[in-house]
Amino acid sequence: MYVKYIFAWICSLPLAFAATAHGAETRPPRLQPEGWDSQVTLVAAADLNPDPRIVEVDLDARVASVELTPGVRTEVWTYNGALPGPLIRAHAGDRVIVHFSNHLPEPTTVHWHGVRVPIQMDGVPDISQPPVPSAGVFTYDFVVPDPGLFWYHPHVLSAAQVGFGLYGALLVEDPDDPVSVGDETVLVLSDIGLESDGRLEPPDSGGSTGMAFGREGTTLLVNGRVRPKLVVRSGAPQRWRIVNAAKSRFFQFDLDGQLMTRIGGDGGLMEEPQRLDTLVLAPGERADILVSPKGKPGSTYDVVAVPFNRGYGSVEYRLAEPLFTLVFDKAAEYTGPQPTPVRRPIEPLATDAATPVNIEFTMAQQGGRFEYGINGIPFAAGHPIVAVPGSTQLWTITNKTKWSHPFHLHGFFFQVLDGQGAPVHPLEWKDTFNVPLESTIKLVVRYDDRVGSWMFHCHVLDHADGGLMGMVDVGVAPSGHVHRGAN
Ligand code: C2O
Ligand code: CU
Ligand code: CU
Repeated sequence: MYVKYIFAWICSLPLAFAATAHGAETRPPRLQPEGWDSQVTLVAAADLNPDPRIVEVDLDARVASVELTPGVRTEVWTYNGALPGPLIRAHAGDRVIVHFSNHLPEPTTVHWHGVRVPIQMDGVPDISQPPVPSAGVFTYDFVVPDPGLFWYHPHVLSAAQVGFGLYGALLVEDPDDPVSVGDETVLVLSDIGLESDGRLEPPDSGGSTGMAFGREGTTLLVNGRVRPKLVVRSGAPQRWRIVNAAKSRFFQFDLDGQLMTRIGGDGGLMEEPQRLDTLVLAPGERADILVSPKGKPGSTYDVVAVPFNRGYGSVEYRLAEPLFTLVFDKAAEYTGPQPTPVRRPIEPLATDAATPVNIEFTMAQQGGRFEYGINGIPFAAGHPIVAVPGSTQLWTITNKTKWSHPFHLHGFFFQVLDGQGAPVHPLEWKDTFNVPLESTIKLVVRYDDRVGSWMFHCHVLDHADGGLMGMVDVGVAPSGHVHRGAN
């Protein structure tokens, strides 16, 4: 009786799902078994502020011991003692206040990847703020303007600090979320480099060659767990909001012919849903996925990470590895309606008056040492690209190297164009996009009035540390400055 009522109710749903007062949405019904995602539930950051429009949290960076494989403890770097850090939840338009304290043995900062923050909150050392010293504090305070899944991580020695475990998800919900799926989980994909005794691998393993490759961890993690299980009801829709927080690894998986629909990416929902056979997420990228996996009650299905070719040697010698497992519970297959497609109008950015910006990703080798650069110049010696507030730029990025580089821009979303400079549909707002090895991509970005020096870099963090990083000065008076630390 109850079940029938829910079905009828889903059937009659219009495109947009009705939402009510802020913070108290009517959620679509839940179809998965009770506790279906309890193995991957992220610790939630406690909101200390009673104002419903303000999310105020404490975030403490500290070393903590975790058990990744049974009986083996590893000292990792964490936010609030958890791997990943706590899930911060807000609604678009909320003010987020983060009381950050650093109990690590090194300086650090927190960068809010993808969030259109003011420059003072962007977490880039020396450029947007002084690094937070060991035992120091800093208050991040900004409005989250856009719904979507974002994430936070350090911007000091990023490859090492992210690799040690410092990352967390920031979910900005749409108060009028049109997606009619009640069962939703946030999946933070990453990896971690462990020695056989459980200790962390040194961040400089392999020297300059390790940097050139981009060091991947030995152990795959989903929400800080090795091969966790999701208990699902066959055929029932679920929503996965995924972020790739690994420092170098691309995640690629398919679901063997199961229904997989991507509805959103970095900056919220896409223009229209896209059916996928394979999902590839470069480091830093996010995806909003609907799946209705089917299987015999009681059976299991391993979601497997398939090696992705991001350059020489990254596929040839590697095997697919299980990432997480779907366990089909005993309930009969769900045969009710599937989610209605959601559309989001997105205007293509006009490119006719856009200023061209042409850059190359380059690599140099000197005395057996590799160095990445922009136009042959490593970040530390580079000059910024200059942009006028409110202007539009058309970037052409040519990757001259034998490695793929996920391009990431701070502070602004962009749209990806095809080789002819036409918008790629379905349109979506991106902040991270892979530039495959030895190829060219185009994108268009419109700046607003947030004056400041905004970083762009490869999100294979070893590559960023190895020189593949630059800066856009939006409305900054020319000073002839040369970049310094920034990572
Ligand atoms: Cu997610 Cu500059 O980084
Ligand atoms: Cu970023
Ligand atoms: Cu790279």
